[in-house]
This record gives sequence, structure tokens and C-alpha cells, in this order.
Amino acid sequence: MSWPAAIAAGWHPVAELARLGRRPLARRLLGEPLVVFAGEDGPVVLRDRCPHRGMPLSGGRVREGRIVCPYHGWAFGAGGVCRAVPGSREVPSIHAAALPVRVAAGLVWTTLGEGAFPRLPPVLTDPALDRFWWVPAASPARVLDALENHLDPAHPHHVHPWIVRAPDKRVPTRVAVRIEADRASATYHEQTQATGLIPRLFEGHRTTSIGRLWPPLTGEVAFEGPRGLRLSIAVVFAPEDHGVTRPYAHFATPRGRLPAWLKRVLLKAFHRPILAQDRRALAAQMSREGAYAIGPLDFLGPAIWAFANGKPPEPRVYEAEMLL
Ligand code: FES
Ligand SMILES: [Fe+2]
Repeated sequence: MSWPAAIAAGWHPVAELARLGRRPLARRLLGEPLVVFAGEDGPVVLRDRCPHRGMPLSGGRVREGRIVCPYHGWAFGAGGVCRAVPGSREVPSIHAAALPVRVAAGLVWTTLGEGAFPRLPPVLTDPALDRFWWVPAASPARVLDALENHLDPAHPHHVHPWIVRAPDKRVPTRVAVRIEADRASATYHEQTQATGLIPRLFEGHRTTSIGRLWPPLTGEVAFEGPRGLRLSIAVVFAPEDHGVTRPYAHFATPRGRLPAWLKRVLLKAFHRPILAQDRRALAAQMSREGAYAIGPLDFLGPAIWAFANGKPPEPRVYEAEMLL
């Protein structure tokens, strides 16, 4: 099974920079086992295989910015260069296979391909906001299903009833859809008080919610009130393997009366059941193969698939109405 072109070529997160400590992280990207660790001059990403006898390096330790293989103790530094062979004065000129590394928005990114670094939502680096990353474990989900789920306005009434949307209180809502050359968005002009429990608690009056696609694999949902942004949830979906996806979720709120740590605790507590509900839906969705039908409320799905396949959709702007 192959990967869509823009995903195969693209850059993907493999770790949260702040979490890189004394232990190496075993990660997968597009099915390839990788190891991520804190090197002398920044994060290092290697194939998780010692070139000596093939041992997974992620089972080793990090010492002085080098990863030490658990089998014979060879130590590898930046670029995968072998720096020491215990018991010998010789150091062979051997490399563990190294991948390119970028640090952006607090994440460590790498690529198995040749693609350009993706454009990211500005909210990820806006210094005026309180923010935190939440990186749960990978779970059974197709990466494009997971991205579409995050941007989909039509499932919350059914999958998260009352928490996110009240199922029996749908209101006519104007939707402005913009498909652009390098991104897409759907803006929902909400005219009434938000109906779900969480939106009521966190946002007060909501005027607009926006789903933005930053190809290939970032989805941002922003909720705005009369005075601007109330809450942004931007998720970079990492394709660890076919049917295994890890969300890197970034929550941002304007600075206000509540301290950042308290917002972090509350937002995570409220979103934990939502995450579990979405995970159940995404896992169940994988149990059936077949083509997808496009419905009248699938505003961003076709753009998601088009960008992922390296064939950006025709730019267009249109308005629609839905009962949200
Ligand atoms: S297998 Fe890694 S040092 Fe021998
Ligand atoms: Fe959901």
C-alpha cells in the first residue's frame, strides 16, 4: 500500500521538543521505525536500527548527546556518526542512517521524502496567546479520516452529543467555503449561543467557528466571539503507519483571568472524552473498506484528499447553508 504523494514527500512531527529528555523516543513515521533523542546541538532523528548488528537503538540510553546501542554500546551522535566503540580505541567511519530534522512551533519534524516544509497556522507561534501541546498516544485511524474528522461539522451532534453540539437544537447557519491554491477553510457564522456544554463554559458568546486546512495534514478549528479568538485547536496529524495516527494537538487561548496552567488542566479534562469518542469512530470506520460518497456538508473532505494526493483542488469560493 502506498502513501498519498504529499504525505510521502512531506515533513511530519515525531516529538514534542520539550519532552525530549534523557530517554530516546521510539517513533514510527510512514511505517518506518525511528528513534528521536536530544543530541549535543539539538534533536537527532535516526532510523531505529544500529548499523552494527541491527539492534533497535531506541532500547539504548542517551549519554552526552549520543545514543548508546543496548547491544555492544556503540555510540552515535548528530548525523548518525559513530563516535565510540567501547573496548576499542578505533572508531570506524560508520553511520547510523540519519534523517533531516527541523524544529518548528515546539515540535521536532522530519521527512522521509523530498518535500518542502509545510506552511503552519500562525496561531502556533503567536506570542500573545496561552498555549500548550497535547500529544496523546497513536491510535487506530487512517490519517486523512482523522484530519477530516477534526474539521467535520456534521458528526459532533451524533458522536459528541451535548458535549460539543446539542443534537436537537440545530440552527440555520451560513457557511463560507474558501478553497485556495495552498489551503482551504469553512467559516460557520453562528448566530446564537453555542449549544454544547464545553463551548458554553469556555467561550461565552460564539459568533464564528472556522475550520482551516493547512495541507497536507494540519487542521485548525478556531472559535471566535465578538472580541476575536476565544479558542483555537490546531492538530497536526502524524501518519505513523497505515491505519495508525498520532495527533499533535495545540490549544491556544487569549490571555485572560484564568492562568495558563488551569486552562490546560480544564481543556484537557474536557477534551479527553471527546478524543475517546472520535477514536472509537475512527477505529470503527477502518473496519470497512470502500470508496466514500460526498455529501452536501462535506465542505473540506474533497480538498483534504486532493491536497494529500499532490493535486490541489481548483480554487473557488462559495456560500452554503447548514443546520448546525
Ligand atoms: S548491535 Fe549495536 S553496537 Fe552492536
Ligand atoms: Fe469529533
